[in-house]
Amino acid sequence: MNERQVSRRGLMIGAAATAAWAASPVRAMLAEAGGRALPAKVEALVAQMTVAEKAGQLTLMAATWAGGAATALNPAAGTSTFETQLGEVRAGSLGGVFNGNGATMARRMQGVAMREARLKIPLLFAADIIHGFRTVFPVPLAEAGSFDPELARRTARAAGAEAAASGIDWTFAPMVDIARDQRWGRGVEGAGEDVLLGRMMADARVRGFQGERGLAAPDAVASCAKHFAAYGAGEAGLDYNSVDISERTLRDVYFPPFQAALAAGAPTVMASFNEISGVPATANPWLLTQVLRREWGFGGLVVSDYTGDEELIAHGFAADAREATKLAFMAGVDMSMQSAFYRLHLPDLVANGEVPMARLDEAVRRVLALKVALGLFDDPFRRIDPRREKTRVRTKATLALAREAGAKSIVMLRNEGEILPLPRAGKRIALIGPFAQGKHDLIGPWNVYGTDAEAIDLATGVREAVADAGSVTVADGSGIDAPIAGGIDAAVAAARAADVVVLAIGESQAMSGEAQSRTDIVVPAAQMALAEAVIAVGKPVVVLLSTGRGLALSGGVLTAPAVLVTWFLGSEAGRSIADVLFGIVGPSARLPVSFPHATGQEPYHYGHKSTGRPNGPGPLAPYKAHYREYANDAAFPFGHGLTYGRIGYAGLDLGGGRLSAGSTLTVSATVTNSGTRAADEVVQLYVQDVTASITRPVRELKAFRRVTLKPGESRVVSFPIRRTDLLFVGGDLKPTVEPGRFRLWIAPSAQAEGVAGEFMLA
Ligand code: NOJ
Repeated sequence: MNERQVSRRGLMIGAAATAAWAASPVRAMLAEAGGRALPAKVEALVAQMTVAEKAGQLTLMAATWAGGAATALNPAAGTSTFETQLGEVRAGSLGGVFNGNGATMARRMQGVAMREARLKIPLLFAADIIHGFRTVFPVPLAEAGSFDPELARRTARAAGAEAAASGIDWTFAPMVDIARDQRWGRGVEGAGEDVLLGRMMADARVRGFQGERGLAAPDAVASCAKHFAAYGAGEAGLDYNSVDISERTLRDVYFPPFQAALAAGAPTVMASFNEISGVPATANPWLLTQVLRREWGFGGLVVSDYTGDEELIAHGFAADAREATKLAFMAGVDMSMQSAFYRLHLPDLVANGEVPMARLDEAVRRVLALKVALGLFDDPFRRIDPRREKTRVRTKATLALAREAGAKSIVMLRNEGEILPLPRAGKRIALIGPFAQGKHDLIGPWNVYGTDAEAIDLATGVREAVADAGSVTVADGSGIDAPIAGGIDAAVAAARAADVVVLAIGESQAMSGEAQSRTDIVVPAAQMALAEAVIAVGKPVVVLLSTGRGLALSGGVLTAPAVLVTWFLGSEAGRSIADVLFGIVGPSARLPVSFPHATGQEPYHYGHKSTGRPNGPGPLAPYKAHYREYANDAAFPFGHGLTYGRIGYAGLDLGGGRLSAGSTLTVSATVTNSGTRAADEVVQLYVQDVTASITRPVRELKAFRRVTLKPGESRVVSFPIRRTDLLFVGGDLKPTVEPGRFRLWIAPSAQAEGVAGEFMLA
């Protein structure tokens, strides 16, 4: 049996996280503000640097190699050329570049830095390695659905090693923003709506990127916890929008994944674009200095987001570039990305005494300390190896991992009549929909180096899996947003001629990601028309949903006998989907975000508060908290996901039902697979603090455990609960725990009853 438990205790919060950071070797390298832990030769460099050279170290720009392809995933900025950028390296006015293209570029730039610049300080090469490099893994949201942090660690490790082989030192990942509004497009980059899952994925991804041999290892990349903070809480789910939020919610919900990332050793943090209650994060001393450095003891590097300092002007917070520079820098942003504001304005600000030299030195030391930690002062070319770049990418092993991760990220929402898995022989299959075939929408929205062209599409995966590839017919039926002439007729004809229809519909990858908020989180109308027409044929239909967010499903798609959420699964997408469709691998993932009934419920998350007038289970009652149209619950809640087994929960054991100081309460339930196929069940423990001095959510995930159950197998699954599992941010904004009554559920989702009971905390 494969059984792993993950819970809050596996991670550290608050003081414990700070202690972990303090003890980490990265911290030792990065040193305290103004610290003396830099090697003597690097310290000597600081003494020699001019103010302009110092400001240069604090400047990070998009690589201009190959005509500036690096800016493709960001707004166009500047007209610099590669030659100009080499000139900046020579002059010492550049600390590093990001999203460049490979070892050839890196070697040229590093060569100039090491041979032609006065102080010969190595450049830092950064990139957005969000879910893979050349081998592309499932989008992070999908992978969070695996509820398998070890899987996330393994894919991050593989991505880090591939990126490092191409000269990359530093990834702008993991994105650890909690996302509770599915209108927001960037939820796709993170771990979804839940704090515990968010913390666990943050921890796993940092450890994966950085590896186990220290940051100087040639296959390690430094990670960057982003976007600090509350970027996912923008009003109305609009990307970049203002955040008006209580300090308690920041501390209770949005901060913990950052603390987990830092405890795991992340040496850098990226400030977010948004304002927080009137003060942009990029110029927020409370956030970047008081909380991050003083409270949490973070000694690493804070980088702005892309032109984040420049945007202080548009926010209405800084009058001009000079003031924006001063505000961001003095608030705690050490390095400026893409605006070039720091190298343009810091020298003058220092000369005029508006920015102390000590603050400049502190920031420079942090950049240099990162370069030291990455081993760049020992060997600036340690990650730049054109041969490794070719041989260490898209290997058999990484592609197999992509296929595994893809299959483990697929969530089965429905399987009425157990029409899945499909038999591999003897059925004519109509593969219908805009995602049925073609090299598009496979890898997801946030990938700089992978391509759809190198990925496996659904038709290929299905044809490989079936005994007779000729039994598969494919019809697009519709475009993603618009109908295609004759598309529905051809699709209906294909459905009529088939025994089973696989309907691949949903969002394109361009519909999620940065700046891709939606007002209506639905399957586009043209595809709904196709779906209804095909479903009306009356054949068994399996719906596959491409998406980068939780969707509000409707009509025949909502009630189709089988529905699988297939997200954007990466390099091996088509094979991963076929593995689950045909039962080569059983579905085992769970929703990392709730799928609401309707967009109007957003921001919806399972861990909401009760209100004074909860509707409770059952029909909608007058004067209760619900909408006219729907109960305020989810159509498919967080944690939901079916398997090919038939899983039942029974036999709750509350272990005496009393938790006293210093002890552990062990609760358990018996989970049984009465089906005919083995299943990986993610057993979840939820708790509600019934009465507290600060109201608590109706349910909070406290732990989960993945158990593999053979047909007919029963297992007792137990969870230890300690006082520290019940901490929350109290009236004084400090972690607290209060005695009293707690409800608990051991259940297959945040909304399922599973088995439920109560215990007392003494
Ligand atoms: C802007 C995004 O917000 C951030 O996540 C990314 O790392 C930078 N662009 C650099 O591409």
